[in-house]
Amino acid sequence: MENLGNFRLVFGISFLYCLLNLSLGFNPVDNYLIDCGSFKNRSIGVREFVADNTNTSSHTLSTPEHIFANSSSNSISLYYDSTLYQTARIFNGPSHYSFSIKEQGRHWIRLHFFPFVFQKYDMSKAKFSVSAQNFSLTREPQSGNVSVVKEYCLKITSNNLVLSFIPDSKSFAFINALEVLSIPENVVPEEAKTVDRKGDKKSLRELALETVARVDMGNSTVLPQNDTLWRLWVSDDSYLIDKNLGSFVSNVSAVNFTGGLVTEDVAPASVYGTATRFNLDDPNLNANLTWSFDVDPGFDYAVRLHFCDITSHVLGAPYFMDVYTRASASRKLNVSVGSSNIVNFPSVILNGLEIMKINNDKGRLDVSEVVPSRTSKTTLIVGVAVGLFVFVVLAALVFLFCRRRRRRKPDSGGGGQNIPMTGSVYSNGTARFPFIELVEATDNFSENLVIGVGGFGKVYKGVLRDETEVAVKRGTPQSSQGLVEFRTEIEMLSQFRHRHLVSLIGYCDENNEMIIIYEYMENGTLKNHLYGSSHPGLSWRQRLEISIGSAKGLHYLHTGSTKSIIHRDVKSANILLDKNFMAKVADFGLSKTGPDIDRTHVSTAVKGSFGYLDPEYLTTQKLTEKSDIYSFGVVLLEVLCGRPVIDPSLPREKVNLVDWALKSHRNGRLEYIVDPSVVG
Ligand SMILES: *[C@@H]1O[C@H](CO)[C@@H](O)[C@H](O)[C@H]1NC(C)=O
Ligand SMILES: *[C@@H]1O[C@H](CO)[C@@H](O)[C@H](O)[C@H]1NC(C)=O
Ligand SMILES: *[C@@H]1O[C@H](CO)[C@@H](O)[C@H](O)[C@H]1NC(C)=O
Ligand SMILES: *[C@@H]1O[C@H](CO)[C@@H](O)[C@H](O)[C@H]1NC(C)=O
Ligand SMILES: *[C@@H]1O[C@H](CO)[C@@H](O)[C@H](O)[C@H]1NC(C)=O
Ligand SMILES: *[C@@H]1O[C@H](CO)[C@@H](O)[C@H](O)[C@H]1NC(C)=O
Ligand SMILES: *[C@@H]1O[C@H](CO)[C@@H](O)[C@H](O)[C@H]1NC(C)=O
Ligand SMILES: *[C@@H]1O[C@H](CO)[C@@H](O)[C@H](O)[C@H]1NC(C)=O
Ligand SMILES: *[C@@H]1O[C@H](CO)[C@@H](O)[C@H](O)[C@H]1NC(C)=O
Ligand SMILES: *[C@@H]1O[C@H](CO)[C@@H](O)[C@H](O)[C@H]1NC(C)=O
Ligand SMILES: *[C@@H]1O[C@H](CO)[C@@H](O)[C@H](O)[C@H]1NC(C)=O
Repeated sequence: MENLGNFRLVFGISFLYCLLNLSLGFNPVDNYLIDCGSFKNRSIGVREFVADNTNTSSHTLSTPEHIFANSSSNSISLYYDSTLYQTARIFNGPSHYSFSIKEQGRHWIRLHFFPFVFQKYDMSKAKFSVSAQNFSLTREPQSGNVSVVKEYCLKITSNNLVLSFIPDSKSFAFINALEVLSIPENVVPEEAKTVDRKGDKKSLRELALETVARVDMGNSTVLPQNDTLWRLWVSDDSYLIDKNLGSFVSNVSAVNFTGGLVTEDVAPASVYGTATRFNLDDPNLNANLTWSFDVDPGFDYAVRLHFCDITSHVLGAPYFMDVYTRASASRKLNVSVGSSNIVNFPSVILNGLEIMKINNDKGRLDVSEVVPSRTSKTTLIVGVAVGLFVFVVLAALVFLFCRRRRRRKPDSGGGGQNIPMTGSVYSNGTARFPFIELVEATDNFSENLVIGVGGFGKVYKGVLRDETEVAVKRGTPQSSQGLVEFRTEIEMLSQFRHRHLVSLIGYCDENNEMIIIYEYMENGTLKNHLYGSSHPGLSWRQRLEISIGSAKGLHYLHTGSTKSIIHRDVKSANILLDKNFMAKVADFGLSKTGPDIDRTHVSTAVKGSFGYLDPEYLTTQKLTEKSDIYSFGVVLLEVLCGRPVIDPSLPREKVNLVDWALKSHRNGRLEYIVDPSVVG
C-alpha cells in the first residue's frame, strides 16, 4: 500500500511537471493579447485574450468612436480558435492602440482579421492601412471573406509602441484580435547573406519584417497551440510544384537539440522532425525539387531554411540558414533543392522554411503603388526574370543538398558505418556539428580553402557563424587513417586542455563523415617555417620558444593524467604555430594510452612517421613515452639544421639527418650542420 502511495505521488508530480512544461513554454516579458470588440476575456488554450472595452495601465486605445461588432454566424477558421473571430473592433477614424513596452528589442505583432457583416459594415470591403513605429505594415489586409493573420517583427527601442489603424476616406478599419509579444533571440533572422557565392551580408536587426510564409515540410501542419511561440507552420504540399518528385518523411524522435545553437524556440521538434525528401537525388539528372511562393516584386525577402538530418540513423542536429534575395517581377519566389557533385549528403531534404518580407527604403511593407496587371506582351520578360531568379536561388541552395554518387559505392556493401558516440567518451561538452554548418563554414569544402593535406584527408580553413576561424579536417572514407583514428583523436583531445596542445572545437559524424574541427593556427606547421617554403626563416629565439613550448605540450601529455598518453607521431608537421608563433602539438590520431604503473610499456604494432621512429620501438614493438622523446629529438635536429629528416637529394652520408648529425657530433663538427640563417 505504501508503495502504491509513493507511486501515486511521483506520478502526480511528474504529471504536474508535464503540464507546467507544456503550458509555460516561452514566457514573453511583453505579452499583450487582445480580443478586439469583446466585452469579456477569452481563453484560447493556455493564453488569455483580454477584453477590449477598457484602457489598462499598460495599454490604451484612442479612437473617435466606439463600435463593437459581433457576429452570431459560426465563423470558421482552419487553424485558429474560431471564437476569437466572433467579435471585432470597427474604427471610423484614425485610431491608435498604445502599448507600454518593458523589454526593448524585437517584438512580434500579430493582427488577426476575420471579416463579417455587422449592421452597415461589410468588413470584407473595408479599406484601411495599419502602421507602427513609422513603418507602414499593411494596406487592405483582408481579401474577400477569408481570415488572415499577419505577423510582423519590429525592433522597439522606446518604452512605447503605437499601432495605428487609418481608414481610407469614406471607409473604415477593423481588427478581430491582436498580439504584441517580445521574442527570444535567434527566432527571427538577425542577418542574412545573399544567395550568390559572394554572400554579401545584410543586417536585419533594425528593419521591419513581415512573415509571408512559414512552412513545415513533410506534408505536416503544426498548429499554434503546439508551438512554443504560437506560430502556425502550414504544410508544404500546396507549395510543392511537382509532387511526384518529393516524398514525405517523418521521425520526430530523431531530433536532438542538445549542444547546438538551435533551440526549440527556433522551430519545434515537430517541424525539424518532418521533411520532404527529393526522390531523384542524382546529380546527372539535373532535376530540382521546388516550392513556389507568391511575393511582391521590388521587395527583398529573407529566407530561413531549416534542416535536420532525420533520415540517417544518427540523431539529427537541427540547423538553419538565413539568406536574402530580391523578388523578381514574376511575383514568384521559388525555393529549390537538388543534387550536385560537390558535397556528399545522405539525402536531399528540407525540413522547414520561413519567408520574411523586408521593409523597403520608404519604410513600407505594403505595396503602395498599384502595379498594373501584366498583359501577354510582357510574358517573355517575366519568364526571363523567373529563370534568372531561380538560378540565383538555386545556385546557393542546390549545392547544399547533394549527394555524390561516387562516394556511395565504397560503403554500399558495408551498410551504415556510424560511430557509436557514447555520452561518457565525449562528456566534456565537445560540440557535435551538423554537416551543413561545416559546408557553410568552408564554402562547400572549397579547394581554395585547403590549408593542408594528409593521410587522413584534407584540412580546410573555415569561418563559423560567430566569426571564429577554425581548421576543419575532413577524413575521406578511403583514407588510410580511418574510423579508429578519428575516434581516438576526439577522445584524446576532449580529455586535454593545455596551451601547448591544439584545442578541439568539435566534430561531425553525420552521414558517415569524419570531420574534426580545431582552433585555427594562423602560422601553420613548424615544418613549413623551417624549410621548403617561402616563409622568412625563424629566428634563434623563436626556435627556442617553439621547442620549449612543444616540449611542454608533450610533457603534459605524458604526465597530465593518471595514465600517460603517448603521441606516437611527433614530427615538425604535427607542431602548429598560432599567430604569435606559439607552438601547439597536434594530430592525436595515433595516440595510445601509456603503460599502467605496474607495467613499463605497451606492446603495439609499429606506427608513426619514417625518419622519426625510435629504433628501439621499431625492433621491440614496445612503446613507452621515450619513443616520443626520441621523435622529439629528431624535431630538435630539424629546428637546429633547418632541413628535412630524410633528404634524398643530398650526398649519401647526409641523406638521413639523424645519422649525419650524430656523426658530425662525434667528429666535433656540429657547428657545420647548423642552419646557415642562425649560425652564430
Ligand atoms: C480580463 O483579464 C484581465 C487581466 O487578466 C483582468 O484585469 C480583467 O479584469 C479581466 N476582465 C474581465 C471582464 O474579466
Ligand atoms: C483610453 O485612453 C485614451 C487615450 O489615453 C482615451 O482617449 C480614451 O478615451 C480612453 N478610453 C476609455 C474607454 O477610457
Ligand atoms: C451582439 O452583442 C449584443 C450585446 O451584447 C447582443 O445583444 C447581441 O445579441 C449580439 N449579437 C450577436 C449576433 O451575437
Ligand atoms: C518616426 O520618425 C520620426 C521622424 O523621422 C522620428 O522623430 C521618430 O523618432 C520616429 N519614431 C519611431 C518610433 O521610430
Ligand atoms: C462575404 O460574405 C457576405 C455574407 O456572408 C456576402 O454578402 C459577401 O458578398 C461576401 N463577400 C465576398 C467577397 O465573397
Ligand atoms: C498530405 O496531407 C493531406 C492533408 O492531411 C492529405 O490529404 C494528403 O493525402 C497528404 N499527401 C500525401 C502524399 O501524403
Ligand atoms: C497538438 O496539440 C494538441 C492539443 O493541444 C494535441 O492533441 C496534439 O497531439 C498536438 N500535436 C502534436 C503533433 O504535438
Ligand atoms: C527514428 O530515429 C531514431 C533515432 O535515430 C531511430 O532509432 C529510429 O529507428 C527512427 N525511426 C524510424 C521509423 O526510422
Ligand atoms: C544529443 O547530442 C549530444 C551532443 O550534441 C549528445 O551528447 C547526446 O547524447 C545526444 N542525445 C541523444 C539522446 O543521443
Ligand atoms: C517557379 O515557380 C513558378 C510558379 O509555380 C513556375 O511557373 C516556374 O516554372 C518556376 N520556375 C522554375 C524554373 O521552376
Ligand atoms: C536545378 O538547379 C540547378 C542549379 O541551379 C540548375 O543548373 C538546373 O538547371 C536546375 N534544373 C532544373 C530542371 O530546373
